[in-house]
Amino acid sequence: MARPDLSGLSLLIAGGGPDAFAAVEDAFQEYGGVVFRISVLGDAIEFAARRAVDVVLADAALFDRTTVELIDSLTANSVVYLATDGSAGDAAEFFTPGVEDYIHKQIDPRRFIQMVVTRLVRQHGGSTALTVTDPLISKLRPYFLFRSPAMRQALLSLPSIAASNQTVLISGETGTGKEIVARAIHVLSKRQSGPFMAVNCGAIPEGLIEGELFGHEKGAFTGASKTRKGKFEATNNGTLFLDEIGDMPLLLQVRLLRVLEERHIYRVGGERPIPINVRVITASRVGLKQAVADGLFRDDLYYRLNILRIHLPPLRERIEDIPYLAFHFLGRALAEMGVEPPYPPLSPASIDLIEGLQWKGNVRELRNVMTRVATVLPHGIKQVLPIHVSPHLEDTEPQPHCLQKHEESGNGIFIPIGTPLDEAEGQIIKETLKHTGNNRTQTAKILKIGIRTLRRKLSESGQIDP
Ligand SMILES: Nc1ncnc2c1ncn2[C@@H]1O[C@H](COP(=O)(O)OP(=O)(O)OP(=O)(O)O)[C@@H](O)[C@H]1O
Ligand SMILES: [Mg+2]
Repeated sequence: MARPDLSGLSLLIAGGGPDAFAAVEDAFQEYGGVVFRISVLGDAIEFAARRAVDVVLADAALFDRTTVELIDSLTANSVVYLATDGSAGDAAEFFTPGVEDYIHKQIDPRRFIQMVVTRLVRQHGGSTALTVTDPLISKLRPYFLFRSPAMRQALLSLPSIAASNQTVLISGETGTGKEIVARAIHVLSKRQSGPFMAVNCGAIPEGLIEGELFGHEKGAFTGASKTRKGKFEATNNGTLFLDEIGDMPLLLQVRLLRVLEERHIYRVGGERPIPINVRVITASRVGLKQAVADGLFRDDLYYRLNILRIHLPPLRERIEDIPYLAFHFLGRALAEMGVEPPYPPLSPASIDLIEGLQWKGNVRELRNVMTRVATVLPHGIKQVLPIHVSPHLEDTEPQPHCLQKHEESGNGIFIPIGTPLDEAEGQIIKETLKHTGNNRTQTAKILKIGIRTLRRKLSESGQIDP
């Protein structure tokens, strides 16, 4: 194979003794990756989630029937390989869901790296080279976290956008991270040592925005007792982030366009052009194009701002990020409360629960919920269970998609009155399995139960092989 590039990727070796997997460790590092070693299972899980480890290679001997649930919290965030010595075949079979693969402890390191590369390239949509995406993710950490293919896709051009000097338009629902992306562009750009400022055009009264942006001369209006610089001057050689640009009054839109074209400003009441070197990044929650169509936003400004574009998908369209961010925010809140790590992972059922919600407030809402969860979390618990999470969800509606699909397809089953409950349950499971083409993960999700609960119910009912 061509020499793999693992730069930006991390591998956690969990258990196996101090010298185990030494050849894999050497090879991973030789190709540019970073390797961590942790011998205790709980510490490894906590570490993998907090550091966003890409790959975990764990000694299968770390897991037994009592710890098996913990695999789920690892697989939520990382690609997990379990290493066995060949004798643990039965135990290994027991762990199956979520584990990427089982490998022999003496695996040829080149083969292992090949597996990792193949797996991660697939995750990146097949066509994307690892070298393009993963350094991006590591550059953005720790303040911007994601692992979903949808976000990788959305941010793929971020480094080249940052390197250019053009205006950028960032769109996305509330709480999707528009401001963080604007800051990331600034930090990754040549202007990083210059100032960054955000102005929320929607929050400033119409009459004041002009002065806020361009400043004013002494005596420009009653009360203007001294000259004041505006945000454009204050961010000279830096980046000015104009949030909610759609709320900018039409008259001011004309002025902004002129400033972008001519690269100088006039203070309110001033006649002298003041040259400025500012990169403008704008953001909008609403579709600006629609605002243009409605005559509320100037089309010439729209085209000027829309040169480079980043659209952030809502959280419900990047479900892979939900457990990852949730654990991150939980850990952060607990750390702020002075609680010592390791922090309890979310149980599979809790993950199912939060993955199934709408998150209209997106990442901000998830962060607030997890902060509330952390505040009242009982000490010493092993996992965060749905009973710890659900009381904080009152405003969060479940995703309607399952229901909708159901209505659309007209799928359903008839259960006559008098059917014993366990039998009815069995039928529902059976039909849902049929509906998903025997996909157990999806079935569990639709039924809002953990995959392990599903397996247990299947084996208990005896109707279907576990
Ligand atoms: N990918 C992410 N990783 C970590 N934190 C995030 C991420 N996305 C958003 N956040 C956090 O969520 C909150 C909301 O993000 P931000 O303010 O950037 O959203 P926004 O799109 O500008 O929202 P609004 O439209 O309401 O202004 C912030 O506290 C931010 O730190
Ligand atoms: Mg914002």
